Amino acid sequence: MYVHASSLYGMELSTTEALGENQSILAPMNSSSTITVAVTGASGLLGRPLLALLESDSRYRARGAAWSRAGGNLDRIDITDPAAVNAWLYEVKPDVLVHLAAERRPDVYAEDPEAADRLNIDATEALAISCAAREVNLIFLSTNYVFDGTSSPYLPDDETNPLNDYGRGKLAGEQSVTAASGKHRVLRVPMLYGSSGNLEESSVTVLARAFLDSDGPVLLDVRQTRYPAYAPDLAVAIVGLLPGLAEGSLPGPILHISPGEPFTKRDMGEIIASLVGADPSRAVADERPPTGAPRPEEVQLACPNLEAMGLIKTTPFREAIRVSLESIREAGGLSPE
Ligand SMILES: NC(=O)c1ccc[n+]([C@@H]2O[C@H](COP(=O)([O-])OP(=O)(O)OC[C@H]3O[C@@H](n4cnc5c(N)ncnc54)[C@H](OP(=O)(O)O)[C@@H]3O)[C@@H](O)[C@H]2O)c1
Repeated sequence: MYVHASSLYGMELSTTEALGENQSILAPMNSSSTITVAVTGASGLLGRPLLALLESDSRYRARGAAWSRAGGNLDRIDITDPAAVNAWLYEVKPDVLVHLAAERRPDVYAEDPEAADRLNIDATEALAISCAAREVNLIFLSTNYVFDGTSSPYLPDDETNPLNDYGRGKLAGEQSVTAASGKHRVLRVPMLYGSSGNLEESSVTVLARAFLDSDGPVLLDVRQTRYPAYAPDLAVAIVGLLPGLAEGSLPGPILHISPGEPFTKRDMGEIIASLVGADPSRAVADERPPTGAPRPEEVQLACPNLEAMGLIKTTPFREAIRVSLESIREAGGLSPE
């Protein structure tokens, strides 16, 4: 079966093309059944391509929830309100749930950790328990920031040691998810980027801002190494996991997904500068310790399970960031502020 996702990629590309010849992971559990998938955080950077991919695939019936950007095909559900979540689960009757809703910005998290904990820890725990009671298997998106970066690359079972409140909150969310059901799964991912209406939605695309707003050198960190992941690539992998999640047959409980291409912010800035019409030599190495919430210097996620399943397919950074910036340009988001 070919699932066209051209709107996600800005090019003609299907799930099958994205994943190559390994068709087994795309085979439906039961060709006569449809899997009903509920997605929290469906208005976000990853939620949008995931929901679009599910809606384009006849094997799935998808329902997305959002909060401030709800409307259209997105239900307005405050996931910190257990009664609202339970009513939504009762109505949707999902077979599986993909839990994306979160506060994912470490600096914002650090400003009000109690509020962020209510979303990332308390709401996650309540959702995991409600899903387990309904025999709905859940996959929870977590972060490479659960590690401290001192012994990269990391396998799923390696020791965690988050350096910031966001990583601590995600680790607590992971623990409540895995405690609630042996069939729930955690998927850790690195920093994301993708199509958007504005540069600020991703810590990758936001690097363009300084090139657009000034003419001089742009100092960019070279101490931290990142493995930026293109959100539509992750959406394809998550869809590939859903039949196994529904059956309760996925390895786990913790899974990793990551591209293998390492970049510093300066490396990304050089490429991004050239794509927004700026001189790439304006991207200058900043050797000083970064400010803000502490972040690990290098966390590469080793992905043995998803590699074995044929689910790691990565659009090259230069191509994926070009498509992402093009979407932002079309939305009018590349103007100087
Ligand atoms: N982005 C990254 O670089 C990154 C890196 C590692 C892991 N992750 C993880 O991957 C997942 C997806 O990230 P993302 O970048 O797609 O996130 P995002 O773009 O920041 O979107 C966050 C989502 O959470 C929803 N949300 C926030 N508060 C809510 C509430 N009270 N009730 C219901 N929904 C609420 C938002 O809805 P509205 O916008 O409609 O309010 C939005 O859909 C997250 O779990 C994140 O922690 C992300």
